[in-house]
Amino acid sequence: MQELASNGSVSVTWRHRVHTCRHAFADEGGALANLLPCDSGPAQVLIVLDEGLLRAQPDLPAQLSAWSDTHRSLVHAAGAPLIVPGGEQAKNDRTEFDLVVRAIHERHICRRSYVLALGGGAVLDAVGFAAATAHRGVRLIRMPSTTLSQADAGVGVKNGLNAFGAKNLVGSFAPPWAVVNDTMLLCTLSDRDWRAGLSEAVKVALLKDPSLLFELEHTATALRGRDLDVMERIVTRTAELHVSHIVAGGDPFELERARPLDFGHWSAHQLEQMTGFGLSHGDAVAIGTLIDLQYATLMLGASSELSQRVANCLESLGFPLHCDALGEEDRLLEGIERFREHLGGSLAITMVTAPGVSDEVSHIDLDCMRQAIRLTRRRGDDRASRAG
Ligand SMILES: NC(=O)c1ccc[n+]([C@@H]2O[C@H](COP(=O)([O-])OP(=O)(O)OC[C@H]3O[C@@H](n4cnc5c(N)ncnc54)[C@H](O)[C@@H]3O)[C@@H](O)[C@H]2O)c1
Ligand SMILES: [Zn+2]
Repeated sequence: MQELASNGSVSVTWRHRVHTCRHAFADEGGALANLLPCDSGPAQVLIVLDEGLLRAQPDLPAQLSAWSDTHRSLVHAAGAPLIVPGGEQAKNDRTEFDLVVRAIHERHICRRSYVLALGGGAVLDAVGFAAATAHRGVRLIRMPSTTLSQADAGVGVKNGLNAFGAKNLVGSFAPPWAVVNDTMLLCTLSDRDWRAGLSEAVKVALLKDPSLLFELEHTATALRGRDLDVMERIVTRTAELHVSHIVAGGDPFELERARPLDFGHWSAHQLEQMTGFGLSHGDAVAIGTLIDLQYATLMLGASSELSQRVANCLESLGFPLHCDALGEEDRLLEGIERFREHLGGSLAITMVTAPGVSDEVSHIDLDCMRQAIRLTRRRGDDRASRAG
């Protein structure tokens, strides 16, 4: 075999733009509109709206229409907003993906036009995959509308759909054109979705920022009481940690074995699947984080105070930590194999052994992991029986 003389390496640079604000559409300065440059005339924009968000904030289409009117020299809405179903069903089949691709086609959205997507992580994943593949990539502006998507899902570079019973089996790495976290979108979340981003905050605090863990513990009452200023601070710090991992971590497209930000996720994804997505991603990550901390205590020399401390913190943030599916240990443990396949080859699971200290393990002792699952289950059951 002979290598072509013209072979070489190619590097592509992109700017990862993540902004935070309040009232993005009322901003007279047009900061949002200015994020959508266009060579000739106003930028064509297909607006996609999560149905659950629209139900909670029915005046959004009017706000969007006033915004595009005010900035008509910069933006032009390509038709009325496309309303798509929200929640995990957005990713569970191709319906939503097809709706968006069809709208891109029928409304003449080209590679220099924009898709502006407002919604939770599931809608952003489905719309993101459509935008990444239609015309081989249309510019995408994400406006995440849940705590989890502002803190994590919406500020990353991935998208995806579930397929053949596997979470995120289909998807791509596709950096968005920009991300705009508008804190005011969070006001109408259910309690479950309000707390969801906080388990990702606990996760990333354990990995990278012990002071954030401390802050979460000390602001738990305010967070449970839906203090928007405190939530904004926590979400912004969590987003910063995720974004800096992507921008400065040296492996934005996860080509290396390790995926530290997936700490606590092998079991979280499996639990979501086992409960038919009755368990939210946020609640599943809370349980998954605890399972791996229990394992680290049993196997890797982490202190038992750490798992106690994190369980207390998660409970005070409002996480139930109770899940009947924890009783199906064999099925849950299949999540380890699925995670290995998703990584592509050998297993690499990040385990936290102290705040800010982590280890990558390539082998899981299954007996020990069973014990970790039982300890986590007992903790959740005790709490549920005390509460009930
Ligand atoms: N791409 C990534 O890197 C990445 C990372 C983490 C998680 N995820 C994915 O994100 C998804 C979870 O996202 P999520 O936690 O945002 O939940 P979600 O997208 O399922 O949304 C939860 C519910 O809230 C509704 N909603 C959205 N915004 C609202 C608002 N402001 N007010 C009232 N209701 C609103 C939605 O319609 C939905 O019913 C999972 O599919 C997960 O796999 C992706
Ligand atoms: Zn997650």
